Amino acid sequence: MLYDLVVIGTGPGGYVCAIRAAQLGMKVAVVEKRKTHGGTCLNVGCIPSKALLHASELFDEARHGFAALGIKATAELDLPTMMKHRADTVTSNVTGIDFLMKKNKITPIHGTGRILSPAQVEVTAADGAVQVIDTKAIVIATGSDVARLPGIEIDERQVVSSTGALELDAVPARLIVVGAGVIGLELGSVWRRLGSKVTVVEYLDRILPGMDTEVAKAFQRILEKQGFAFKLGTKVTGIAKTEAGLTATVEPAAGGAAETIEADVVLVAIGRVPFTAGLGLDEVGVAKDPRGRVVIDDHFRTNVPGIYAIGDVVRGPMLAHKAEDEGVALAEMLAGQAGHVNYDVIPGVVYTMPEVATVGKSEEDLKAAGIAYRVGKFPFTANGRAKANRQTDGFVKILADAATDRVLGVHILGAGAGEIIHEAAVLMEFGGSAEDLARTCHAHPTMSEAVKEAAMAVDKRAIHM
Ligand code: FAD
Ligand code: NAI
Repeated sequence: MLYDLVVIGTGPGGYVCAIRAAQLGMKVAVVEKRKTHGGTCLNVGCIPSKALLHASELFDEARHGFAALGIKATAELDLPTMMKHRADTVTSNVTGIDFLMKKNKITPIHGTGRILSPAQVEVTAADGAVQVIDTKAIVIATGSDVARLPGIEIDERQVVSSTGALELDAVPARLIVVGAGVIGLELGSVWRRLGSKVTVVEYLDRILPGMDTEVAKAFQRILEKQGFAFKLGTKVTGIAKTEAGLTATVEPAAGGAAETIEADVVLVAIGRVPFTAGLGLDEVGVAKDPRGRVVIDDHFRTNVPGIYAIGDVVRGPMLAHKAEDEGVALAEMLAGQAGHVNYDVIPGVVYTMPEVATVGKSEEDLKAAGIAYRVGKFPFTANGRAKANRQTDGFVKILADAATDRVLGVHILGAGAGEIIHEAAVLMEFGGSAEDLARTCHAHPTMSEAVKEAAMAVDKRAIHM
């Protein structure tokens, strides 16, 4: 059997690329070493984390939010059932991918893939059986793995990565989170809501590096009000197991006196690294950059003709929707169409309460690029729906080109921000201006009206402020 395309890895990049290629008439096989499809995202990432974020948010609301709305309820945690909800959500999503594979007549092959040449992939199954698949093209979609701290062993019970933090069988009384990035703040939120005292240790002097600084600072204040403790500009130098739990030694990042913090569980969330182990890239001569990412050109081509790469294993944000869009674009290019990804308009969302959602440039990006801009801001405290919902934390911030009024960046801190952000993404895809947004009728009362008002505020004419 000669395939048109063999995709290695069935995360959001790989399975979406395979489906789109099959839709376009290609004969496609996928190789996956996990028992289930869906990669990091569906098995141990996006989906299980959102199942726990949703459940823990309702628990928190029931304990601390309902009374003010006139609802008397006592909430009691049933962690095994919450974990079953997480596991059932994963199963339902990964079996959905099996169905899509069948529907699109894609051949699933379970085992670890190794590239022998641009025309052959060797697959070793869990039982040791080996087969070689012939193909006209290969896509590397092998994703990423947890970044580790030197000298600190992750046992997934006491010292955990995100994977262990999604499966704890008891609420840790004291949780240390190393890294104030997306995983640390999302999973830190889950366990804080369920009862943990959470201390976040971050190397830099801010949370969420890369996000608009004003938004990150406001978000930090909200998290502190919720009970998070932050130790910024601090590094963890060691973790020791004691009879009572764990003792983490931390030091100022710039140097100085060490101190210790006691914990029951430590979550290491300091980023992820591209995963290419055992793929045979060196043998076939596929180039990687100094950070271990597979080097590609604008058409997802590696330096070896016939071998392509997408998703977390290549440059760009490590996000599921970025991997998916690359999968679609590559399949379309392979079919002779004009696939395209606009890297200037990839939304990023932190699924906490409130959510942080961002698309396009931050103020720091624009300053660094020397682009003159105008800012429009609108707080949710002045939004009728937010008041009715008692969800007034946060604001919308719009950055527009000072000369052309084109929207260059939108940042939303607020309940539901991860859904609201998409009107900004669509506007930006069409090269829209703040004026366009300000003149678009928004339904009342909605949280989205804050976006319209922020757009009006770019021209200093917001109505409700
Ligand atoms: P992956 O999803 O990592 O899939 C790669 C697949 O390749 C894996 O299944 C792996 O088993 C397989 N593989 C690797 N090597 C081989 C081999 N040699 N042979 C066969 N198979 C192989 N992103 C978001 O956009 N939104 C979120 O809410 C979000 N939440 C996250 C939460 C957590 C806790 C984590 C860890 C990540 C989260 N992410 C989120 C990031 C998201 O999961 C990744 O960006 C996304 O999964 C990348 O997709 P991918 O297809 O490139 O790789
Ligand atoms: P991250 O890159 O978002 O954050 C890592 C944080 O750890 C940074 O703030 C960094 O400064 C800090 N750090 C690094 N080394 C440190 C050290 N030695 N000591 C203390 N702090 C240190 O990475 P994270 O949170 O692990 O997530 C990995 C990837 O998964 C991200 O790229 C993210 O895009 C993706 N993801 C996306 C989600 C979403 O879209 N909602 C949810 C979860 C993950």
